[in-house]
Amino acid sequence: MDDMTKKSRIPSGKKLIVANWKMNPSSLKEAKKIFSDVKKGLRGRSRKEIVFAPPFPFLYPLSQLSLRSKVKLAAQDLFWESEGSFTGEVSAAQIKEAGASYAIVGHSERRAMGEGNEEVSKKALAGAKAGLRVIICVGEDKRDSAGNYLGELAKEIKGSLSGISGGRVSNIVVAYEPRWAIGKSAADAIDADELHAASIFIRKTLTSMYGRKKALGIPVIYGGSVEPGNVRSLSCEGMDGFLVGHASLKASQFLKIISGA
Ligand code: PGA
Repeated sequence: MDDMTKKSRIPSGKKLIVANWKMNPSSLKEAKKIFSDVKKGLRGRSRKEIVFAPPFPFLYPLSQLSLRSKVKLAAQDLFWESEGSFTGEVSAAQIKEAGASYAIVGHSERRAMGEGNEEVSKKALAGAKAGLRVIICVGEDKRDSAGNYLGELAKEIKGSLSGISGGRVSNIVVAYEPRWAIGKSAADAIDADELHAASIFIRKTLTSMYGRKKALGIPVIYGGSVEPGNVRSLSCEGMDGFLVGHASLKASQFLKIISGA
């Protein structure tokens, strides 16, 4: 294991809580305010790894506020090439230069714009090679009583991680984000039993790819309408944290989620 890979591991037992801000907030001033308010409220909560995924232009300015702090930064996407004529794209190395140590790839909102498993896999590999911790999002479109959605989920996990060898899994986090549960209220989100069953299925799929020991070392987090009202019930065994969208844009709500996780 090289130094970079070692550094990218979450200390064992720590929950990973990621704020996915998507294309919000509209100004850097607001971004700094949420970020600083959360940091202020975090004192003494060192058992959790807190990561913010702001829009690209806010990464560097926020990194300047997070020096010497335990809070980390993530990009919301990356491109698999390292440099060249790829207008609009951002490489893993550039993301690291901007102060991020994590990157999200394969979010369902990017998949809805046409990104497939092959692209997600190339992005994940490029991020891992650069020493980033890569959060790979997977999740079914909808559920059916016959359980066919599990086949869809397995296909997406296998396809999105196809470029990741056993030697690189320590850079990977899997985020289970069923598309039907994203952007809803806590009442319409997944329930604890459904999440527990999905977490077992995801571990089984990862075990079939990497063997039991390595699969157990891959953090699996959940995203989709996580709010202060459901975070406790969703903190089931087998889940290593949360990817939080809309509720991470209000410092008070995000702090409640952090303490409830
Ligand atoms: P949500 O978003 O918490 O607003 O459902 C989660 C996500 O899309 O990552």
